[in-house]
Amino acid sequence: MSLEKPLLHIVALLILILILILSTGAAFLGQAGTSSGSTTTTTNQQQQQPIPQPQHQIPEKGTFQNICKTHDLPNPLASFFPNNATGVLNATLAIIPIPLSLARRLVNPSGYSILESAYRSLVPDFPEGMYPVLLQAAHDHDIQLRAYGIVLEDFSRVGFEFPFLGLSGDGYSSYRWAPAQLISAGNAIAIDGSRAYGTRVSPARFEPECEAYQMLSNGNTYFKGLSVEYHNASLQSKGETSIELEMTRLISSSFSSGSPYSYPLDFFKNITNQPIFASPGGSCDNMIRFFDTSMSRGKFAPVPVKGRVKAVNVFPFVNEGELDSNLDLDVDPSEGPDLDDANSRGGQRGWEWTDVYGVQVATPFIENNYLDCEMMRGYQGWTAIDGMMMDDL
Ligand SMILES: *[C@@H]1O[C@H](CO)[C@@H](O)[C@H](O)[C@H]1NC(C)=O
Ligand SMILES: *[C@@H]1O[C@H](CO)[C@@H](O)[C@H](O)[C@H]1NC(C)=O
Ligand SMILES: *[C@@H]1O[C@H](CO)[C@@H](O)[C@H](O)[C@H]1NC(C)=O
Ligand SMILES: *[C@@H]1O[C@H](CO)[C@@H](O)[C@H](O)[C@H]1NC(C)=O
Repeated sequence: MSLEKPLLHIVALLILILILILSTGAAFLGQAGTSSGSTTTTTNQQQQQPIPQPQHQIPEKGTFQNICKTHDLPNPLASFFPNNATGVLNATLAIIPIPLSLARRLVNPSGYSILESAYRSLVPDFPEGMYPVLLQAAHDHDIQLRAYGIVLEDFSRVGFEFPFLGLSGDGYSSYRWAPAQLISAGNAIAIDGSRAYGTRVSPARFEPECEAYQMLSNGNTYFKGLSVEYHNASLQSKGETSIELEMTRLISSSFSSGSPYSYPLDFFKNITNQPIFASPGGSCDNMIRFFDTSMSRGKFAPVPVKGRVKAVNVFPFVNEGELDSNLDLDVDPSEGPDLDDANSRGGQRGWEWTDVYGVQVATPFIENNYLDCEMMRGYQGWTAIDGMMMDDL
């Protein structure tokens, strides 16, 4: 308990490195930009001969082995920050306004205050009495600890996040609570890494499997995560856990037109750069997301989207009684044969939000894991390399 903080950090870093090195999911990358191939090899700098494709990793029929190629651009930060975990998040970020009263009830068991003035200063027109929940649906790509030759297998994840929480109690430092995630079932490192924060992780299958979203024939984008336990009868499944998004891409001009329902990119930047925690007393994840690189310019410029989000059994949107009759939320009764055998008394809940506004944008990131949340008090975001080299990325 009385360890010096620097020592704690070194220990945390060593543990992280050990986990990464010991895991069989880590792959060594000879060249940048080709991390998503089908070869899963583990080497280190002393032994660079590739291990043949392991036979035992052949998954059961119809599951989630990462055998596909993604369109995501390669990680541009790894060479600049070889000693840090870096990667690319290609994401749909959407804001779901919920009543502050509901937000307080969802957040309150943990006892954190909601810093309404912080989000009002960024989005003054945000509807009165409402609170912005972030839905983040993303493909994590080309995650590296370059100096150690470590590359993590790509994975997808989706979950609800509660920004602008006053975890430290100083009245202005915003933290983001991300209590639950669906994560690609095939990526044990990502799952364990998230669980180490106290996150409720549902190993999941994703549609599409290795992209941030796919295009439907109607021009909309689609993304779905569905828990795999649901399909494993021996687990006596609590029922499906899923999040599904269908988004219409809006013309870019409406993004900055002051439309009452679209949010400035800075709002997403601010939220996604707030320190993340998952459980009371747990540690904090410092993710530095860059919104101003070549990955979000030109043909990759952020695209505003509007659409529909459906969630079944996703914490904390699970308890009956949390639903106010005057909310702009629909209870989505079990539909389709998949839901029929779910235990209806087990909290099987469908929530659906329509007219949800957000943005699709890919951002490179630096991630500093397992930090002391208290040490993040007063964090204003990391800007040291803004303007310095972002233009080159
Ligand atoms: C993000 O993902 C979409 C969908 O796969 C793809 O079209 C786009 O090129 C990706 N963006 C970047 C910057 O990688
Ligand atoms: C890179 O990692 C080191 C060691 O954990 C940390 O002190 C430093 O702040 C990180 N760099 C950035 C830009 O976050
Ligand atoms: C079902 O879950 C159990 C317990 O986690 C596991 O041992 C078993 O391998 C799983 N079966 C399948 C088919 O995934
Ligand atoms: C987010 O915005 C608030 C309010 O303007 C500001 O105090 C805070 O430093 C910003 N945080 C980040 C991480 O950008």
